[in-house]
Amino acid sequence: MTETNTVPVITIDGPSGSGKGTIARRVAEALGYHLLDSGALYRLTALSAEKNGISLDDAEGVAAIALGLDIEFDSNEDGSERIWLSGEDVTQEVRKESTGAGASTVAVIPAVRAALLQRQRAFQMAPGLVADGRDMGTQVFRSAALKIFLTASAEERAGRRHKQLKDKGMGVSLAALSRDIEDRDRRDSERSVAPLTPAPDARILDSSGQSIETVTNTVLGWVADLYS
Ligand code: C5P
Repeated sequence: MTETNTVPVITIDGPSGSGKGTIARRVAEALGYHLLDSGALYRLTALSAEKNGISLDDAEGVAAIALGLDIEFDSNEDGSERIWLSGEDVTQEVRKESTGAGASTVAVIPAVRAALLQRQRAFQMAPGLVADGRDMGTQVFRSAALKIFLTASAEERAGRRHKQLKDKGMGVSLAALSRDIEDRDRRDSERSVAPLTPAPDARILDSSGQSIETVTNTVLGWVADLYS
């Protein structure tokens, strides 16, 4: 399927805990652009399959779930996210590490990726889109105006994820989280369909030791360069 939409897209891909979600949100807010958190779609697919008693190894069953996802992205008054699945508030469940692991299991199924493709492209609406994920620049929005591959050291990524989950009241040990992140990185990088890898025309940005503000400003600087 080709991309015919001319609305500008900025893609931010990278491994778990690289800060993609936070940076994508900040950049979208600063530009007044829409935001696509594509990982949430894979998480919701895994969650919905589990709730419907479909095994995550059942490729056809999970692809049917992905096609029929009934979801809504909403926000609370304080700006924090709220996610609904078939009318049920799943905001907390979606962010659990077990849901992330389920997401990376269903993400290797080609039919699931195909089922989610149009749903992701539908987020490309004026005035623009910031899309965060693993294959935004390599598959979903190949003609994006700006492609970024955000990385950070494995220790820093585990530490950030730990803090994020703790802030949300979800306890998990740092050692378990590091193992989980390593497993997920391996699955995401080694899969044959849409593996986690920078697009040839992506700019690599290492956020290790850099504040959210600094990284956000680097990206906004690149966006400004596009229009100068
Ligand atoms: O980014 P997040 O941690 O929410 O992603 C959960 C999982 O979904 C990833 O580990 C990856 O396996 C999968 N994913 C993907 N392609 C995307 C976004 C997420 O395969 N564009």
